[in-house]
Amino acid sequence: VITIGTVAKLREYVAGTRADGRRIGLVPTMGALHEGHLQLCDVARRHADAIVVSVFVNPLQFGPGEDFDRYPRDLERDARLLAGRGATVLFAPDRSEVYPDGAVAVSVHAPALGDVLCGRFRPGHFEGVLTVVAKLFNMARPHCAVFGRKDLQQAALIRRMVSDLNFDIDVIVAPTVREADGLAMSSRNAYLSAAERRSALALHAALNAAEQAFMAGENSPAGIAAAAAAILEAEPGVTVQYVEVVDPESLLVPRRVERGHAVAVAGYVGKTRLIDNHILE
Ligand code: PAF
Repeated sequence: VITIGTVAKLREYVAGTRADGRRIGLVPTMGALHEGHLQLCDVARRHADAIVVSVFVNPLQFGPGEDFDRYPRDLERDARLLAGRGATVLFAPDRSEVYPDGAVAVSVHAPALGDVLCGRFRPGHFEGVLTVVAKLFNMARPHCAVFGRKDLQQAALIRRMVSDLNFDIDVIVAPTVREADGLAMSSRNAYLSAAERRSALALHAALNAAEQAFMAGENSPAGIAAAAAAILEAEPGVTVQYVEVVDPESLLVPRRVERGHAVAVAGYVGKTRLIDNHILE
């Protein structure tokens, strides 16, 4: 895997790759890679010839008091993992490379989709995400880009940005990768103590309870959310932020729940904010 740190060098690589008629797949990440990210690379390899993985902890998407400073960073380990997984380029720009003026005067804001669910608790977060993803799209000029389903709201927003702003990019959303006991993989799991790690399993258990309620015939969003909330509220180590049933594209709460709708949960386990979701089957 070649490590590239500047936009100019990435553009050179991209121009050469495109000139050779090779397809570029982009996997945007904030590093601290885990098996979930590596499976995004596997998916990208099925759709593209050259895989660019970006590693950039984007300050724009962190609010005051959030974990920007302590977010795990280990570029050497990331490079090793990517080399073993067929990635071609590790694009790891400095903050000044992405934000040469320190800040942006133009940003991408999608209030209807970005101010609900996580957006209610993280004002400005999705504006930061969309803005950096739009920049990465313009820097890497990929044919396709792969994101994880765990970030359901992010995936919906990026799909909508690509459609509304006419990016010529296929957005692929890959399934959530879980630990053997069901915990969704996340770089933030590294913050959890052993006891918190056990409490965090309540998120997955809550999603299972929602699926069971749906299978038993419950079709009101409130009824399904209540089944999940009951599990979370019974776990003292979890402080719930939201439990909602939504359409995974519009993020609106449906009148009646159908197969394909999503149950999304967010909460704190200790000081660590975790999210998860499940598409009802
Ligand atoms: O999902 C993430 O890790 C980030 O939100 C992303 C898409 C890399 C943008 O910074």
